[in-house]
Amino acid sequence: MRLSEIAWESFHNLDVYAKAPYLHEHGHPFHVLIAEQFDRAQLDELSALATQIRFIAKSDDGMDFLRSLLRNKRVMLYFSQPSTRTFLSFRAACQILGMRIGDVRDSSTSSEFKGESHEDSVRTFSSYFDCIIMRTKIGGLAEKMAWVLSNSERPVPIVNAGSGSDQHPTQALLDVYTLLRSFEARGGIDGKTIVFVGDLARGRTVRSLASLLINYKDVRQCFVAPDRFQIGKDILARLNAAGVKYELLSDFKSILPEADAVYMTRVQDEWDSEKGESAKIDISRYCIGANDLKLMRPNAIIMHPLPRRKEISTDIDHDSRAMYWRQMRNGMWVRVALIAAIFEVDNKIREYHGKTY
Ligand code: CP
Repeated sequence: MRLSEIAWESFHNLDVYAKAPYLHEHGHPFHVLIAEQFDRAQLDELSALATQIRFIAKSDDGMDFLRSLLRNKRVMLYFSQPSTRTFLSFRAACQILGMRIGDVRDSSTSSEFKGESHEDSVRTFSSYFDCIIMRTKIGGLAEKMAWVLSNSERPVPIVNAGSGSDQHPTQALLDVYTLLRSFEARGGIDGKTIVFVGDLARGRTVRSLASLLINYKDVRQCFVAPDRFQIGKDILARLNAAGVKYELLSDFKSILPEADAVYMTRVQDEWDSEKGESAKIDISRYCIGANDLKLMRPNAIIMHPLPRRKEISTDIDHDSRAMYWRQMRNGMWVRVALIAAIFEVDNKIREYHGKTY
């Protein structure tokens, strides 16, 4: 199934899971648009590949090998919404694979400022680059652009690096990788309790991760938020359909002792419909500090997609359970693995790893 074989309206109206076959080619991801396009086998495969890449990158010979893989490819980083981690980790990932990189980080510096449509902008990028990694505040735009390019003479892959308040699939991939690594000696993600805290309504990282966790057995998902910031009904419908155990809670401290992972988030006030709307909501009960660590299991972990504000006190940064810095670095390795898979050089990496280690 190819995106060039389906009308935009028909594709757009498909259930998220029905979209998945249109986004993969030859058993590899092509466009990366939604978390729901990945199944458990693909998550395990990408995570294992990321770990192999980490090992290979430890030696100069390994780095030379990785840099040789995509040295003839060019990538466009089209970020019209602010980013530090996603932008830099994708850039670092592309550099590790030897790609040459172009970027637009502000639409006011591109011809969009003169009224050029997104469609024309992206088709222009595809004339010069072999892959477009894009972040946008417009929900669904990455999907539309993928469809446009798949129906053009230069069908290059689109990677969604965050779209609207809806999807952040590559963040969810690195979050799963972090959970897998953290629970490696504890039977993996199956059977764990994952507690999401904060602005879950508008947190695209939470929405994408909650969907990916459906792939694991007996995971209990707890959503802790003030009413206004509680997780969306569309995600709950997906969990219900999959028979996933979940709880909607407002008392953070009472669930903390049961958590295997606590996933903190900041208030996403960039999505406020009127200025100061979020500031009216008391989030003081949805923060974590040194006293709260006493309530947590010794082997539980604290995650955050970052950037943070005050929801994680800096005085817990050195606790062994604070996973957010390692989580951020994991993002680079997973993104190397993802780009290698998109360009179908992942088998070369497995072969090199098999011969060398
Ligand atoms: N986690 C994340 O998306 O961070 P940035 O907004 O800094 O890219």
